[in-house]
Amino acid sequence: MRIMNRKSSHLTNKVNLVTANNKRSKISEEYRSIRTNFLSLIKDKESQSQTFIITSPNRGEGKTTTVANFAISLAQLGKKVLLIDANLRKATLHFSFKVSNYVGLSSVLLGKTLFEDAIIETEIQGLNLLTSGPDTYNPADLLGSTLMRTLIEAASEKYDVVLIDSPSVLEFTDSKIIASHCDGLILVIQWGKTKSNDVILAQKIISDSTKLVGVILNDRK
Ligand SMILES: Nc1ncnc2c1ncn2[C@@H]1O[C@H](COP(=O)(O)OP(=O)(O)O)[C@@H](O)[C@H]1O
Ligand SMILES: [Mg+2]
Repeated sequence: MRIMNRKSSHLTNKVNLVTANNKRSKISEEYRSIRTNFLSLIKDKESQSQTFIITSPNRGEGKTTTVANFAISLAQLGKKVLLIDANLRKATLHFSFKVSNYVGLSSVLLGKTLFEDAIIETEIQGLNLLTSGPDTYNPADLLGSTLMRTLIEAASEKYDVVLIDSPSVLEFTDSKIIASHCDGLILVIQWGKTKSNDVILAQKIISDSTKLVGVILNDRK
């Protein structure tokens, strides 16, 4: 799947929420097309509750942009969606949605906040957000904990789809750890930038953690 570059926009968000702000743009069409493929993929399953990690071989290849727009696109279709910022190394989803990150995933995993209390209702109907929460010194341990698994299971019962943003595969072990709690993984690759060797290596690293359900080719010119 190829995502076209955003041509022009009045957006000021750090991460472009183009799907929410310009439903008619070319890129919004592309996200709808990804959504169609994705829905046909999960339709066959008995349970409609599905958990997916979105990651990429390297940083800056479009994970956050893709997962945020994809989440919006699914919510616009009437799905109940939870978007989780599990990039505890470089959290950005709270900037995209312009919300506070005072509490979030890290606070829940540290037992400081209840999951329900950390959830934020975004301006997009049906789309809830769990931001990363304050920085911690042991992200991989937190993400590998039983509490993380329990959190994802609880989320999958409450939401139609759970999408999880994460750090890059080749940089940290976090995404491999998160992937082991998820039903599937979507790999974002940047057109003209991501090296094929990195894609192969990333696939190898995550292959025994979960199923690779799709690759999104992010065309950022
Ligand atoms: N398709 C795109 N069109 C325009 N800008 C993009 C696109 N994809 C990503 N970007 C921009 O590139 C930068 C890195 O993208 P981001 O989604 O934050 O990557 P990652 O989460 O993988 O580190 C951001 O400033 C983002 O707005
Ligand atoms: Mg990111």
